[in-house]
Amino acid sequence: MELTRLIRQFQPETARRIQPRPYINHSVEFKGLFTAEERARVLDDVGLNVFYFPSEMITGCDLLSDSGTTTMTNDQWAALHQGDEAYGSNRGYFRLREVIRETFGEEYFSDAPGLAPNAFLFHQGRACEDALFSALGRLGSGLVIPSNGHFDTTQANIEGNRIAAVNLFSPELQNPASDGRFKGNMDTKRLRALLETSGGRVPVVYLTITNNTGGGQPVSLANVREVSEIAHGYGLPLMLDACRFAENAWFIKQYESGQQNRAIIDIVREVFSHADGFTISFKKDGIVNMGGGLFFRQGGLFLKQYPHLADEITNHQITKEGHPTYGGLSGRDIMALAVGLGIAVKDAYLAWRIQQIERFGRFMQEQGLPILTPTGGHAVYLDMNRFFAGTRIRPEDFGGISITALLLAGYGHRGCELGHFAFGSYDPATGKEAFPEVNFVRLAVPRLRYEDADLASVAESLRLLYDERDRIPGVEVTFGKELALRHFKARFRFKESAVGCS
Ligand SMILES: Cc1ncc(COP(=O)(O)O)c(C=O)c1O
Repeated sequence: MELTRLIRQFQPETARRIQPRPYINHSVEFKGLFTAEERARVLDDVGLNVFYFPSEMITGCDLLSDSGTTTMTNDQWAALHQGDEAYGSNRGYFRLREVIRETFGEEYFSDAPGLAPNAFLFHQGRACEDALFSALGRLGSGLVIPSNGHFDTTQANIEGNRIAAVNLFSPELQNPASDGRFKGNMDTKRLRALLETSGGRVPVVYLTITNNTGGGQPVSLANVREVSEIAHGYGLPLMLDACRFAENAWFIKQYESGQQNRAIIDIVREVFSHADGFTISFKKDGIVNMGGGLFFRQGGLFLKQYPHLADEITNHQITKEGHPTYGGLSGRDIMALAVGLGIAVKDAYLAWRIQQIERFGRFMQEQGLPILTPTGGHAVYLDMNRFFAGTRIRPEDFGGISITALLLAGYGHRGCELGHFAFGSYDPATGKEAFPEVNFVRLAVPRLRYEDADLASVAESLRLLYDERDRIPGVEVTFGKELALRHFKARFRFKESAVGCS
């Protein structure tokens, strides 16, 4: 019997449950060995703020962020060597131009003389936000920008330009019982209501794909279409915060009816055809360690409504970053990015990436931990409200900060509090804290970096903490509770007695 016929009987492509990774380790780095006491001493010294903890002492998984923490492929390392560091029109610029056109659509990168400039390279996402929102801020006062969930730097850049940032989270996000696949959607009822009353004050509508602040949850194609129709109905441009555009497209292909037989790239193209522009940090689905961009669709509503802003943004880019043909990037960064964008939309890569997050979520559930389900594309979100339910931890004890400190000191894994502290605020006039709707510790998984065993270890470590939740003390803020973006800067110490032990 021919092997090709024989092998068909085994159905090897579909029968097995455990798939191998679609890549191999190209080189590895050994970690240092440190004890829990050594880590605890250093973390105490930096006031329990995990951002200030030396990464070289992390003996477990560094899940602080998936941003810029990607392991690059050997093709990307090779491309770095071909970086052309010319001041104007370097080799990578032309490669990247082609890749941007192929990925997002021709009309997002048209640098022909006579057309408004519409493609701006920056060193990372927040620099794009600064350029866009400082330009929009000059349009007038009392402006409002709605989103399905502004990221923290996006919100800060909006508010820094005296524009109000409004989050219209999907009601499903708050409902642990819902198994909706697109909890990152914008609440379009609330969008309509907002535009009905304040449409004249809204310069653009924003959609973040996937919705990082909203539990890393994806946004459906139907929601993109509907938000686009609503915004356009009011003459308003739709902008995407597109950091995780490929992961979002994977969810659409997987879970949205009628999308299963489409190529990822077709879905990406359709999503972007409904938008008028986008900001992007390439440190996520660009599969690189640095890079960002701001793009407007030629013929789209943004450039129609605000034709003068293209030149203002070019001036901003030249004065703050660099010539439009390199922006804030070195030639080698641009070369690595041109390769990375091609990897990001490949089915084998994306399936592995998202399924690894799903497995991580399952490891957490098997340990009995309360997580946001279904899992999103880049992180598992541990729900602090449910984690501490029934204990004496109150919102003002910032239990999420306690967890990130104990996880790092005790078990060598680093996560990030994104909840009562990060998104809350302190009003010195009243001495009161305001708490946000969402209260998570986020465990963000860097791309192509960790194996399942690493993530299983994180889940087990958190379960050990969960078992002790009645004995975990809250923290007090020793510095910075009144500051903007306070989670990056504040310092803490554990309260003396363990909450729950009277
Ligand atoms: C949704 C979203 N928007 C914007 C940014 C900002 O990008 P950057 O970190 O490159 O400045 C991030 C970064 O994590 C993000 O997740």
